[in-house]
Amino acid sequence: MTLRHFLKDTAISHDEQAAILRLAMEIKADRLKYQPLAGPKAVAILTDKPTLRTQVSFTVGVAELGGYPMFVDGNLVAIGKRESISDVSKVLGRMCHAIVWRTYGQERIEEMASVVSVPVVNALTDDYHPCQVLADLQTVAEALGGVDKLPGAKLAYFGDGGNNMAHSYLLGGALAGMHVVIATPSAYPPKPEILAEAQAVASREGGSVTVTDDPVAAATGADAIATDTWVSMGMEGDAEARQAPFVPFRVDAALMAMAKPSAIFIHCLPAYRGKEMTADVIDGLQSRVFDEAENRLHAQKALLIWLLQQLEGTES
Ligand code: NVA
Repeated sequence: MTLRHFLKDTAISHDEQAAILRLAMEIKADRLKYQPLAGPKAVAILTDKPTLRTQVSFTVGVAELGGYPMFVDGNLVAIGKRESISDVSKVLGRMCHAIVWRTYGQERIEEMASVVSVPVVNALTDDYHPCQVLADLQTVAEALGGVDKLPGAKLAYFGDGGNNMAHSYLLGGALAGMHVVIATPSAYPPKPEILAEAQAVASREGGSVTVTDDPVAAATGADAIATDTWVSMGMEGDAEARQAPFVPFRVDAALMAMAKPSAIFIHCLPAYRGKEMTADVIDGLQSRVFDEAENRLHAQKALLIWLLQQLEGTES
């Protein structure tokens, strides 16, 4: 029995990531194939921030795995204010078979994971969005023709280099053996310690990570072009300052034309047309954003199946 958590992209190995992505593709074709939560066993889905895809994909996913999805509004619980993170976590851990949490500081979910004996899954923190990047890698793998095509492929991200998506592309993409390029204004770089980890992972897995303020160089020859909002949840007070510096990093048709003709456009959503990308890109033929949204369901189900297998010691 091994208790594993998924608090950031590099909580798993290259081979484990590939196995989860393959499983995601398998269960996309046969949605009710595995029922490890039959009983039903409950999974807590907590969120301290706004949500659409996270709530829906985990709720549907846990139900399809035979379980009971228990959505909890973290603001009602006031986790860490009305009740300590440790006490909330221990109560949930006594009744649920896994806990999914969307919150602010990464240290909050790390504290939760340190006091429970069930898997904890990061459904977005200020630093990482690893479930989204699993879904994104599945989407890129589908476009390229398989998970084994990810190593060596180029993923270029445009926008806030210091947000959760940029960080998870750096770690998750590097873990997959990809060439990850973050195109960002120099005032919005990735956190140095996360970039350093991504560089170490990339050199181990045979890929690379690059941070640049040159959008054309970033887009050239890319297999996938990604972007995200310029104003992440929790940064609303900074919204005005987060406009002008990002305009040169907007994904438009001219930038898409620098990528491979077969390149896809991805965005975790919510998207703001006319800001981080033009409407013709997100609504155009190269866009895979709704496949990507759907893949949250499949990738997260695969992740939960895998985490429960580790716990039960049934992994091969
Ligand atoms: N970077 C965005 C991702 C939304 C899913 C945010 O944190 O708001």
